[in-house]
Amino acid sequence: MPNDTINCAEPANPRHIAIIMDGNGRWAQKRLLPRAFGHQAGVKAVKKIVEYCAEQKVEVLSLFAFSSENWRRPEEEVSLLMSLFMATLQREINNLDRNNIRLRFIGDRSAFPSPLQKKMAEGESQTETNDALTLVVAINYGGHWDICQASQKVLDKIMSGQLDSTKISEQLINQHLSTTDLPDPDLFIRTGGEQRVSNFMLWQLAYTEMYFTPTLWPDFNQKALAEAIKSFKSRQRRFGHTGEQILNKSVTL
Ligand code: FPP
Repeated sequence: MPNDTINCAEPANPRHIAIIMDGNGRWAQKRLLPRAFGHQAGVKAVKKIVEYCAEQKVEVLSLFAFSSENWRRPEEEVSLLMSLFMATLQREINNLDRNNIRLRFIGDRSAFPSPLQKKMAEGESQTETNDALTLVVAINYGGHWDICQASQKVLDKIMSGQLDSTKISEQLINQHLSTTDLPDPDLFIRTGGEQRVSNFMLWQLAYTEMYFTPTLWPDFNQKALAEAIKSFKSRQRRFGHTGEQILNKSVTL
């Protein structure tokens, strides 16, 4: 049985918000611009949303920047995204650090150009002791990948005799996921009108509140996020209990 007491008095802000930033390409196409302009505008939206989350004292913001499936895009677009990630990191790491924001990457980074991998590692180590917002950037990430890499680590421990196979539990799997030290997302947002999870944090989203908006990512601003948070706060989270149990405060989570 989980053991945090539910606080029913005042709906709390989400501790962890996870976002699929969809719609950059369509944003550009609507303006008869190349898709690259949409991704550049997407980075500007990222900045605004990071600032707002820090102001709102959200603990973790996770952004799906590049999925394991995004390699299937035209080579030119993949290469543009790599250059954009690099340029953004070069420009923003000091800013994040000054604002006490911890930067963290999840995903299989071994596939990226080595200067980019180096910059990612630098960003993480420079900001590692910051304790305001944690900004998690999922890059070459997939929920299936995360569960596979966790299973591999567990299997390695079993094979080397460090772990007994009877000890496999949800908690143990959780401890080997890339998000092990983070709370699960409370609020999942997908912009751009599609209503699917697209292989993002599959394990971690089990009890997350879902919010879908047609707003294209470059247009998603503080007001739009405030709207999503308002919707989140209006919901009753039950985690398997009945609504009555929650209202009577007779259960622990
Ligand atoms: C989806 O829109 C967006 C992406 C695959 C890339 C998202 C990346 C950024 C916004 C840059 C973020 C950078 C950092 C460093 C966090 P889409 O291209 O699928 O849009 P469409 O559905 O309209 O074609």
